[in-house]
Amino acid sequence: MTSAELPAPYGAGAAAGSPEGTRGAALSPARIRTHHLQQAKDRGTRFAMLTAYDQYAAEVFDQAGIEVLLVGDSAANNVLGHATTLPITLDEMILFSRAVSRAATRALVVADLPFGSYEVSPEQAVESSVRLLKEGLVHAVKMEGGADYAGTVRALVRAGIPVMAHIGFTPQSEHALGGYRVQGRGDASRRIVDDAVALADAGAFCILMEMVPAETATAVDAAVPVPTIGIGAGPGTTGQVLVWQDMAGLRGGKQARFVKQYADLRGVLAEAAGAFADDVRAGTFPGPEHSF
Ligand code: KIV
Repeated sequence: MTSAELPAPYGAGAAAGSPEGTRGAALSPARIRTHHLQQAKDRGTRFAMLTAYDQYAAEVFDQAGIEVLLVGDSAANNVLGHATTLPITLDEMILFSRAVSRAATRALVVADLPFGSYEVSPEQAVESSVRLLKEGLVHAVKMEGGADYAGTVRALVRAGIPVMAHIGFTPQSEHALGGYRVQGRGDASRRIVDDAVALADAGAFCILMEMVPAETATAVDAAVPVPTIGIGAGPGTTGQVLVWQDMAGLRGGKQARFVKQYADLRGVLAEAAGAFADDVRAGTFPGPEHSF
């Protein structure tokens, strides 16, 4: 799919006669839907997904033309200061989801089902997902788990809830998996492909793979009719996703191998904060132009 075949992002061109130039496209925003992602797969083109947890990040990414915004449970360790994704609650996910959904007018907004909100039964998964759509205002949910969760995907799809399946390394199972480890190497590759096929058969509209060998991800993409998304899964998937604070360089410390950093937001913010503090200490802020 070319960008012209997707609904236009705000920056994609001015509406005729628009006094606002490229912002003119925002006057008639079109919404990315799951079938647009399917078209990307069918036509052999790619799309981008970023996490978002708040209003301004969502607005910026939406206007930059990011097709899918993920309200990830990674908010636990990128916003709330937890060490893992496990502690975040459904209520917290709903709060972040509402902020992102209100700000994004074009992107497909997907929210994670957090740990503990879906494993007990398909009924529990439907109840939690209904809350994410009804209160969090998202368009789809993402759920971690392999073929064992095919029945849950079926129940969600039956309830009219689009499901993105998350396989490979699943952070909610990090204690069971022995930490952040690549999944699906060697013979284990077969299981990843089987998981993907079972979940796609059950009705998942998309398969996300985290930390699997590029060869395995490419095999999955060939085995399922639905689009795939990768994070640490090589270039053979339909889409790619990164956690936005990794992508923009806000998070400190060592980055995972699969991250490409496109900006130094941490440096920019630190410099701005330092300059503000210097001005305050020197008595040069606020100046007359900032005073009433
Ligand atoms: O929560 C999240 O950010 C995710 C991505 C790693 C895909 O699930």
